[in-house]
Amino acid sequence: MSLKKEIEINNLPKHIAIIMDGNGRWAKEKGFLRVFGHESGTKSVRGVVEACTELGIENLTLYAFSSENWNRPKLEVKTLMQLLISSLKKEMSTMEKNSIRLNAIGNLNNLPKKVQKELLHVIDSTRKNKKMTLTLALSYGSRDEITDATRQICDKVKNNIISIENIDDTLINQHLYTRNLPDVDLLIRTSGEKRISNFLLWQIAYAELYFTDVYWPDFVKENLYEAIINYQKRERRFGKTSEQLN
Ligand code: IPE
Ligand code: IPE
Ligand code: MG
Repeated sequence: MSLKKEIEINNLPKHIAIIMDGNGRWAKEKGFLRVFGHESGTKSVRGVVEACTELGIENLTLYAFSSENWNRPKLEVKTLMQLLISSLKKEMSTMEKNSIRLNAIGNLNNLPKKVQKELLHVIDSTRKNKKMTLTLALSYGSRDEITDATRQICDKVKNNIISIENIDDTLINQHLYTRNLPDVDLLIRTSGEKRISNFLLWQIAYAELYFTDVYWPDFVKENLYEAIINYQKRERRFGKTSEQLN
C-alpha cells in the first residue's frame, strides 16, 4: 500500500532540497567499489524527480557535488563527472516530457568543460518548462556562495550603485545563486549523517529538517512520501506561538 494517498496535496512543500548521501557506504557494504554506489544513486535521482513531478512539487534541489568533494580521489571525481554527463544526456527527453526546467548552482566554472557544455545545453533546452525547477548543486559550497554575494554587494556600494542602507535580507537573497528560488521548506539528508555539509546555509534558515538512515541508492519514492508526510505533521511557527497561528 502506497503512502502517496496520505499526502495532503494543498500543503506541499514548495521547495524540497536533498543531501543525497551514502552511496559509498552502500557499495562498500555490498562489497562493491564506491563508484558503483554513485551509479546506483542515479536511479534514486530518477525516482525522486519523477515522484516530485507527479505530486506537483515546484522546486527540487539536489546536492550532487560539493566544493569539498574535489578533495576526493581523482578517479572517483572523474567517475562522478562522467556519470553526470551520461545522466544529463539520458534524462533530457524525460525533462522535456515532464516540463522540468533544469538549473544549476555552484562554482560551475570549475567543472570539466565537457560537463559545462552538456549542462548548459540541457539548461538552455529546458528553460521554458514550467512544471518544476530541478536545481543541481554542483561544485557548490554555501560559504563560497555567501562570499560571492558579499563581494558583489560591496562592489555595488563602492561604485555608488546602492548605499549601505539598501542592504537587507531581500538584497542578499538577490545576490545568491538561488536568487530565483523560494526558501527551502523541507531539507532531507539520507545515510544517517546529521549535518549540513556546507549546503544552502542561508536558504534553510526556517526549513524543516528530515534525516533518514536509508542510503541514497536505496531511497525510493515511498521514502520521499514518508518525508513529506512527516513534514506535513509539523507545526511551522516562524517564531510565533502556537496560539497565534490559529
Ligand atoms: C554521496 O555519497 C555522493 C557524493 C557526495 C558525491 P558519498 O559518496 O558521500 O557516500 P558515503 O557518505 O561515503 O557513504
Ligand atoms: C555532502 O556529502 C555532499 C553531497 C551529498 C554531494 P559528503 O559525503 O561530501 O559530506 P560529508 O563530507 O560527509 O559531510
Ligand atoms: Mg558522504
